[in-house]
Amino acid sequence: MEKYIINGGNKLYGSVKIQTAKNSVLPILAAAVLTDEKITIKNIPQISDVRNMIKILTCLGCKAVYDGDNVIIDSSASDCCEIPSALAHELRSSVFLLGSVISRFRSAKIAYPGGCDIGLRPVDLHLNGLKRLGVEITEKNGYIHCKCDKLRGNEIMLDCPSVGATENIMLAAVKAEGVTTIANAAREPEIEDLQNFLNLIGAKVSGAGSSTVRIEGVKKLYGCEYSPIPDRIEAGTFLVAAAMCGGEITAEGAKPENIISLIHKLRENGCKIHINNDKIVLENHRRLTSVKSIETQPYPGFPTDLQAQYTSLCTVCSRHSIITENLFETRFKYVPELRKMGADITVIGRNAFVRGVEKLKGASVMAHDLRGGAALVLAGLAAEGRSEVLDISHIDRGYGSFEYKLRNLGADIVRVTV
Ligand code: EPZ
Repeated sequence: MEKYIINGGNKLYGSVKIQTAKNSVLPILAAAVLTDEKITIKNIPQISDVRNMIKILTCLGCKAVYDGDNVIIDSSASDCCEIPSALAHELRSSVFLLGSVISRFRSAKIAYPGGCDIGLRPVDLHLNGLKRLGVEITEKNGYIHCKCDKLRGNEIMLDCPSVGATENIMLAAVKAEGVTTIANAAREPEIEDLQNFLNLIGAKVSGAGSSTVRIEGVKKLYGCEYSPIPDRIEAGTFLVAAAMCGGEITAEGAKPENIISLIHKLRENGCKIHINNDKIVLENHRRLTSVKSIETQPYPGFPTDLQAQYTSLCTVCSRHSIITENLFETRFKYVPELRKMGADITVIGRNAFVRGVEKLKGASVMAHDLRGGAALVLAGLAAEGRSEVLDISHIDRGYGSFEYKLRNLGADIVRVTV
């Protein structure tokens, strides 16, 4: 197991290059199975979720070759429709493969997907959507078995705007016969990025970014080179780090419009934020003022993936805040760890009640999931004294070179094997 050792209190200065979006690259890797021509994904983020997704593709018979910062996927020899359970348990986004594997092989088998332990994370919306396209599904002994003679376009309505279900249905529908519409589709930027990728390989998808996505089935798909969008959650994480520690940083290669909800909150907290094309400059040199309430919502609302990091920030603001997590049932597992650092925070149901303290104190804390782990790092950077963050494999799932990027900004953080 590896841990971070952090000596808190340093202000952060300088520029940080934002990585390619984890939650764009993962569905795009799944989409590579749809075509037997080569796909090149540029500037692939060096994170374990991506490495595991590529491992799954190779288990399906695809060839994956790293070419510098890019990865080239060749699915022409792909011959297997069973997603390995060990990897499926690792990765929530393995479920996206159902849509593309069914589209290619007319059958698929997958164990229930794993991923961050932040709630029940059912896949009913994925499966109901696939059934509407003509897929027969049986669930037995922890496995989902899918088969179909032909995928037929249909009208689908999602009970909630699920990101993964929207993406999975898009992948299954691109080569279905006829037109598919997804009503109450998720509107996250990563959905639009997937649409742009699919259209580049010859699909006919429209409406992504709105609540209704339309997919007109095509017969053939081609290859392409693609640069996915920057990671809005990584960008937001660095902005929150600088807001908490004080200093002035520039997030480079970001898409500010994709985290405008966070930018507004940080301005309300008292940060100076200047946007210049793909650069976001945040400056702060004083104790932040609390924002009374924050509610996570589907995009374009405040992102659930920034809830933990922002709650960390609230613990050192003046006065108090209420953070409500509306998407996932247990996304406050990092709170007991923050309390070890002196945070005054109480969770009741989906609400975290935070009373700001002057300073957090360094402590030894445990990461339980990806974004909660990042939140603990931010708390350690802002705290007085020495902190340890244990089990940072959770953080490695979504942040490439995290400690390296933070050190470049002046943070005192090292990775240690225990
Ligand atoms: C995606 O997860 C992201 N992961 C998550 O990011 C993100 O938190 C989430 O979207 C919400 O934005 C990837 O893109 C790989 P959902 P996903 O389906 O697709 C319920 C991170 O930190 N639901 O939009 O699993 C579900 O329980 C990760 O990078 C059903 O009820 O999220 C939740 O309450 C964590 N039935 C809500 O929808 C279903 O079939 C939103 O989930 C599917 C989902």
